[in-house]
Amino acid sequence: MSVLKDKNILLGITAGIAAYKSASLVRLFIKAGASVKVVMTPASKDFITPLTLSTLSKNPVYSSFVDEEDDNQVWNNHVDLGLWADYFVIAPATANTMAKMANGVCDNILLATYLSAKCPVYFAPAMDLDMYKHQSTKTSFEKLISFGDKMIPAGTGELASGLVGEGRMAEPEDIIAFIENDILDQLPLRGKMILITAGPTYEAIDPVRFIGNHSSGKMGFEIAYAAANLGAEVTLVTGPTHQKINHSLVAVKPVVSAEEMYNEVHEHYNTSDIAILSAAVADYKPKIVAQQKIKKKESTFSIELEKTKDILKSLGEIKTNQFLVGFALETDNELEHAKGKLKSKNLDLIVLNSLRDKGAGFGVSTNKVTFITASNEVIHQELKSKSEVAKDLMKQIIKQSNA
Ligand code: CTP
Repeated sequence: MSVLKDKNILLGITAGIAAYKSASLVRLFIKAGASVKVVMTPASKDFITPLTLSTLSKNPVYSSFVDEEDDNQVWNNHVDLGLWADYFVIAPATANTMAKMANGVCDNILLATYLSAKCPVYFAPAMDLDMYKHQSTKTSFEKLISFGDKMIPAGTGELASGLVGEGRMAEPEDIIAFIENDILDQLPLRGKMILITAGPTYEAIDPVRFIGNHSSGKMGFEIAYAAANLGAEVTLVTGPTHQKINHSLVAVKPVVSAEEMYNEVHEHYNTSDIAILSAAVADYKPKIVAQQKIKKKESTFSIELEKTKDILKSLGEIKTNQFLVGFALETDNELEHAKGKLKSKNLDLIVLNSLRDKGAGFGVSTNKVTFITASNEVIHQELKSKSEVAKDLMKQIIKQSNA
């Protein structure tokens, strides 16, 4: 999944031959899951038609301060356009438009939108090689960069003039990749490795039966999603679940039993910066797993159980720099029990779920949690959706670990 998903992209088009590539750019933004609106300089309409761009973007295209198609002369509000945008991408950006941007000139709707936009601005220059090298153009680049705008450098290649050199607008795929990487680089968990456990474990009794629990895995999957959206590289070790996740930064490692979860978690722990263990791991497993299906005979039947390994505790014991988070599901003396687990498992943070709270626990899409930190801070949260709880948890971890 692209970081551009659900983002509003305002694409600014100026009068360069590279404007013909804007159609592909609109399609690629939409493919990445973004919404696109287009604002054009009047002269750019000689290179690509507003009809092409409005058809591809499924939005009206703006090229003047009033809507000429409309007899009522409706004013196109450049301030609203700027506020709508999460990112303003000017591609191609001509020497003329960049010089105007650098000097506060505001004689068309694209420039007025630029001056009123508060979102990050990217510009992809396109021009002939001598224009690209001219000191005046370089001064525009420097000024725009000093304003905080981001330049997507032009490539080298054949130019419309027939000359070969620098000045060719970056290819649409490269523009998208540049913006995606730039957004990712600014995310607070960029470069962090996060290990997450989710779901139940199944402990085999015989080839067809097991001991399990009602954990849906939803909380752990939401945490993985929230962490990846903040730029972290996530390893999600999950017991059997129907949950699905599709994110380029999440690697899913399916396991079945507590023993398999233990082994998989230990394989990734050393390289992790943060570990969040939300799985409902079985505390006991059958001591002997029957090789054949057990036949019914007597009126009663017992299975001898033995303890599984406590994965969380084992991580607390070998912890070096990792920030370690556990969950506690309690029904009585909640705070006391959770604080006990925080200490005995050497955690930095524990997330307490009380089954006495309505809307909390297994199989529901909401949760009501309390965060308890290693320095004994107790933070009660409202009943929220599990995805909101996951975002709150990531905020708390970032706050505590300065990640
Ligand atoms: N946990 C684990 N491995 C286990 C059991 C639990 O990693 N074998 C983790 C869970 O993922 C959770 C935390 O330990 O983050 C607490 O789980 P919980 O079942 O509430 O606590 P227990 O330590 O098992 O204690 P009890 O069941 O007695 O309350």
